[in-house]
Amino acid sequence: MAKMWQGRFKKELNEKVNDFNSSISFDSRMYRQDIQGSIIHVKMLGKQGIIDEKDSKIIAKELAAIYDDLESGALRFDMNAEDVHMFIEQALTERLGDLGKKLHTARSRNDQVAVDLRMYLRGEIDVIVGLIKKLIAVLVEKAESNLNTVMPGYTHLQRAQPITFAHHLMAYVEMFKRDMVRLFNCFDNMNECPLGAGALATTTYPIDREFTAEYLGFKNPMQNSLDGVSDRDYCIELASAIATCMMHMSRLSEEVVMWSSWEFKFIELDDAYSTGSSIMPQKKNPDICELIRGKTGRCIGNLTTLLSMMKGLPLAYNKDMQEDKEAIFDSVDTVKLCLSTLAPMLATMTVNVENMSNAGKKGFINATDCADYLVKKGLPFRDAYKITGTLVSVCIDGGYTLDNLPIAEYKKLSDKFQDDIFDAISLQKCVDERKVTGGPAPQAVAKHIEKIRNTVLNDEED
Ligand code: ARG
Repeated sequence: MAKMWQGRFKKELNEKVNDFNSSISFDSRMYRQDIQGSIIHVKMLGKQGIIDEKDSKIIAKELAAIYDDLESGALRFDMNAEDVHMFIEQALTERLGDLGKKLHTARSRNDQVAVDLRMYLRGEIDVIVGLIKKLIAVLVEKAESNLNTVMPGYTHLQRAQPITFAHHLMAYVEMFKRDMVRLFNCFDNMNECPLGAGALATTTYPIDREFTAEYLGFKNPMQNSLDGVSDRDYCIELASAIATCMMHMSRLSEEVVMWSSWEFKFIELDDAYSTGSSIMPQKKNPDICELIRGKTGRCIGNLTTLLSMMKGLPLAYNKDMQEDKEAIFDSVDTVKLCLSTLAPMLATMTVNVENMSNAGKKGFINATDCADYLVKKGLPFRDAYKITGTLVSVCIDGGYTLDNLPIAEYKKLSDKFQDDIFDAISLQKCVDERKVTGGPAPQAVAKHIEKIRNTVLNDEED
């Protein structure tokens, strides 16, 4: 097919080069934004008297018809077209003849693609934020039903201090909450309109950039036309926010993999969210979690792709930048897929309360509380620490835990120990006493849950 830019050329484009150059296979997904952008652009051209108002109306109406035909499937993408922008303009010209050729007045594909991509990604950010909210809702609900589910908290993957499952889950809620903020910031930064930047240096036509920016839902037109067509910070920021969110999902997935192992048995995934082995009949594998972990690498890769694509590019537009789409679209698709799979997987898993609390009983995770007991009775912390360390060693040698070590053994090391030591080091008590803001005590976590319900999950705030 003859190219729109054919005037300067004496030969047709080599067929393989045409395929190499074409982006329609992946940018066709922006057709709605492309048409919306064109409709507002052509309305502006009419309003400003750059083209006839009547013509502007006819073009806008035909663009709307193309939109409907693409939605219904009556019009199909031509995979030989160079990109979605050329395809739609071509379709318009086929329908309107010479009139269709007026659409591209005072515009270039360089500002067109930038405006389309910004609009497309704005919409995707809304979807991703909605999915994060759903995930947070699941975590909050699970946390609420496990306020008293004591488990060991770990450092270095060694049992460290008692916490609750609710407290652990709410840590992830905070991470996903920050992810939402990152996405909002990213939306705000990208919400400036490049339309009117033209190829790189705007235009001599009296266009109204404030009008197009406003009607396409942007805060304002971008202030420098070179920046307008050459900036891809918004892709990088979004890819980075997505990579961070994926990293959070990946850490949680890793924990679920551990928790569902025979060694831990803290949780069990629902059959509908786990897979079997082709050879080992006993296996129930947490494939979803492993895929999320794996796909996180992909999203980190996409961020790297975008950064390396941009780092050596002189101003303004370079065709390298066509590579932005596959990377950012892949990140968007991947994070949406992972969020919408992880949430129901967590919602349907069963929590093995007893195994969690049993694990808490074996690792001396109340040793800090034992030392604190002595501190409360007047000993300096370092002395209390040393005595407790010796007690732990006595327990290990004699096959005891701090909870069943005879009181006589305690008294050998300090006369401060009384029978109330056993109450002071009971796991429930250790958790209950950590009631400061941010702590694992049920009342502290309940407050956190309420805060999240009233802010993040309160739709009236939106
Ligand atoms: N398909 C191109 C892209 O995605 C559109 C812009 C083309 N501009 C150009 N001067 N060739 O970047």
